[in-house]
Amino acid sequence: MCGIVAYIGHKNAQPLLMEGLKRLEYRGYDSAGMAVIGDDLQMTRAVGRVSVLEDLLEREPLTGSIGIAHTRWATHGEVTEANAHPHRDDRIGVAIIHNGTIENYASLKTYLQERGHEFVSETDTEVLAMLISELYDEANGGLETAVQSALREVRGAYAIAVVCEKEPGTLVAARKGSPLIVGVGDKEFIVASDASAIVAHTTQVFELDDYQVCKLTEDSFRTSTLENISVTPQIRQLEIDLEQIELGDFDTFMMKEIFEQPDSLRRTMLGRIKRDEGSVVLGGVLKFARDLVRARQVLLTGQGTAYNAAMVGQYLMEDLAKIPAKVEYASELRYRNPIIQDGTVLVAVSQSGETADTLAALREARERGAMTMGVVNVVGSSIARSTDAGVYLRVGPEIGVASTKAFTGQLMVMAMLALFTGRRRFLSVESCAELMGELERVPEMIERILEQNDSIREVAARYAERENWLFLGRGYNYPVAMEGALKLKEISYIHAEGMPAAEIKHGPIALINDGMPAVFIANKGPQYDKVMLNIEQVKSRGGRIIAVATEGDTEITKHAAPEDVFWIPQISDPLSPLLTVVPLQLLACHAAMIRGHDVDKPRNLAKSVTVE
Ligand code: G6P
Repeated sequence: MCGIVAYIGHKNAQPLLMEGLKRLEYRGYDSAGMAVIGDDLQMTRAVGRVSVLEDLLEREPLTGSIGIAHTRWATHGEVTEANAHPHRDDRIGVAIIHNGTIENYASLKTYLQERGHEFVSETDTEVLAMLISELYDEANGGLETAVQSALREVRGAYAIAVVCEKEPGTLVAARKGSPLIVGVGDKEFIVASDASAIVAHTTQVFELDDYQVCKLTEDSFRTSTLENISVTPQIRQLEIDLEQIELGDFDTFMMKEIFEQPDSLRRTMLGRIKRDEGSVVLGGVLKFARDLVRARQVLLTGQGTAYNAAMVGQYLMEDLAKIPAKVEYASELRYRNPIIQDGTVLVAVSQSGETADTLAALREARERGAMTMGVVNVVGSSIARSTDAGVYLRVGPEIGVASTKAFTGQLMVMAMLALFTGRRRFLSVESCAELMGELERVPEMIERILEQNDSIREVAARYAERENWLFLGRGYNYPVAMEGALKLKEISYIHAEGMPAAEIKHGPIALINDGMPAVFIANKGPQYDKVMLNIEQVKSRGGRIIAVATEGDTEITKHAAPEDVFWIPQISDPLSPLLTVVPLQLLACHAAMIRGHDVDKPRNLAKSVTVE
């Protein structure tokens, strides 16, 4: 989704902002722009990739050491240069960049038009620029006060950075609902919607809270509420380093992150698994362990990949912790008037911790009395800060839009959470220790799967031209079938459906035609024989079987061509999704590359969806 980077300091702003924009590209966008204040306010915007903007700026550079830059993912108005950010007012040289949506922008626009302002775009952001300009009073607090006053009139979500020609030494930022981080350097500040645009310059940061405004000059900052009451932010150390957000030896972030999984999962488990004692240590949950143990219902929620992980979480909580569990899309949960009984624990699953629907569902459940818990990757994100308890994934920054290492991190956390709870309910030390031993071996098992990368690429090459695929699994691997299909759709633009394998005969089997790829997750688990039946139903109608199977299974190659089988090591069924998903991630990544797509910048998608 949209990205913000702004700079104030002693350096030339343009190259710094350009580097920031490149780091934000992964979030998904369709246009980009930059404004810099030097002797005057200069602005350049372009439709398309950041490189288009870069070319324009190379020809006509913007000079000055204070500036704002943005990548836009269209919400209000088409993808045009006029709708790209920054937006300006029509009087005093205000320029603004904005993430989020202003809900009451139409009434504000009418008011401003009545006061003579002339609009040139269809965006809600231009309304904010005009409003700030309308309320600007040099003798009365200047830009900072104008921003506070304007935001008191606004309904909706925003993260903004604003500059004004009349105050060439000031940058003002504010947030409500969309993330915004301030990097504190030596006589310089970088404001960004994402730590990746900051980390190359400083690791000292503070987050703005909702309804906070920050006024920055080259060597000072002041944070306040919309009512101008000063607040002192907590400066903290960023826990990511540059290497984690660079490609290294890989061509794409997605491939890099797939291959990182053995290490990222080791970090997820580090210090949390005490196999000898059969116990799991989850610091962020400990205080609420009793609530969890006595829960009458666990409600899990998320969107996209996080939803698929939450689905596995549902099975794990019922299976290992024996607590009734339910999973629901956050976008549905938030508006459905759900019954939250006493003793409900809401688990919000999210890589970014910023997904608007997930955050709203969490707040709704909390208001209705649920104990809330986050399973989140980004430290200090909105969801992480809004929950009673939580477990961080610790998989490091995920740059690839198609989520991979965050998914396995979520599965791992879910398994640890189920063991943490189950051990306090009905699971014996021995059963816990046994599953923990397997969890500890997962990283090396994934290493073995990754060794099949070349043969998986060949499978992708064989079928990449097919436009319709099915992904089928049962039990714990039904969510993996959904995830496999989602990966393929997201980056290769192939139509794929994931579903419970048995469901196929109730309709989708009509789709099967000669050579249609059907990917079955057929690991050795309790439903193995049933999966074999479903495989035969597809095969006998001309479908081409691709299978994920357990090493040593001699039966599977009677149903699928040996060269179309991906092998995983033997593992207990509840933990099998940690392995079965890996070949499907590789399959999708190769299929997309073979079809000539940029897997890290899939069309129309955003890494973090902060609007409804
Ligand atoms: C977007 C991303 C998906 C992600 C989903 C939920 O749609 O493209 O990859 O799974 O949002 O994001 P979250 O950050 O909440 O996990």
